[in-house]
Amino acid sequence: MSAKTPKSHGRKSIRPTLVPRDLMNEPTALAGVWTARIITLFPKAFPGVLGESLTGKALDEGKWQLDTVNLRDFGEGKHRNVDDTPAGGGAGMVLRPDVMGRAIDHAMQGARGAWPLVYLSPRGRRFDQRMAERLAQAQGVTMICGRFEGMDERVIQHYGIQEISLGDFVMTGGELAAQAVIDATVRLLPGVLGNAESTENESFSDGLLEHPQYTRPAEWRGHKIPDVLMSGHHGEIAKWRQQMSEEITRLRRPDLWSAAREGLLDDAVRDVRGPEALSALLQARLASAPGLEQMLAVANAHPTLPRDPWMAVAQFLWDAAGRDAKQA
Ligand SMILES: C[S@@+](CC[C@H](N)C(=O)[O-])C[C@H]1O[C@@H](n2cnc3c(N)ncnc32)[C@H](O)[C@@H]1O
Repeated sequence: MSAKTPKSHGRKSIRPTLVPRDLMNEPTALAGVWTARIITLFPKAFPGVLGESLTGKALDEGKWQLDTVNLRDFGEGKHRNVDDTPAGGGAGMVLRPDVMGRAIDHAMQGARGAWPLVYLSPRGRRFDQRMAERLAQAQGVTMICGRFEGMDERVIQHYGIQEISLGDFVMTGGELAAQAVIDATVRLLPGVLGNAESTENESFSDGLLEHPQYTRPAEWRGHKIPDVLMSGHHGEIAKWRQQMSEEITRLRRPDLWSAAREGLLDDAVRDVRGPEALSALLQARLASAPGLEQMLAVANAHPTLPRDPWMAVAQFLWDAAGRDAKQA
């Protein structure tokens, strides 16, 4: 833990600490500091891995804030029960809506501006880089970590809770998922990564997976670093990296690749000069793009477009881009 003088953020001074604050005692948000509030039965699981390395340092420096809400504190009766048997029968237990509702109302106190309420759940939308970017733009986020069979559906509907999944597998609780989501988000906050760790050229930053990385020694067990990376020729290196990025994405993630190709098409329409250049570019790079056949059919059916199907598509896109530009 740092012994330095606390830095000032917003209206309050922050005491840097890697120990998450307990919201039962201190429910106010610190203005200007991105905050993750976690509703969990296991507050001691936090900060967990978030207390290490760059996220831990940033937490220590008050660049983001972590609060936990112990669901048990809102439990029913002497034993602070938080769960009950599923209505309609079946295995396991379900988190009670009255208990969860009290915890959420408490956790959302002082949450101002854009502040999503999220439930980590295998049924949720699959978490991705775009979601991390959106969360990083918010003032903070409140995350509910489920346990047992999850929580009563009425809570999700009552609060309009956004469900986020880490992937198509089932874990025993939402704590690890919450930490993964927070990690991906916090590293996008200003000042968390040093210049050396830029997020600009990473996987997903431009819709593609990252190119392969190498470092010294130049030769390891007979395997050499590709010559181009040792050439010092920045233009060639950038070209090689882009090609590798496209190739790896095409082979490993066809879903990302088709979305990225649409982006390439947009770039092409914007950048090339005239429909002839665009036609050549389309033929060279987008011969198998899904949706292109449809465009060809539309363009070919058009009474005034050229006969050559590639030129027709190019003309069609070119005109559309012109129309869009005028409207903008
Ligand atoms: C055992 S799971 C409940 C699974 C639930 N009965 C189902 O089949 O969808 C308990 C808790 O772990 C968390 N969890 C499990 N898998 C997850 C995943 N892939 N993504 C996010 N959270 C997950 C959720 O908070 C969930 O409420």
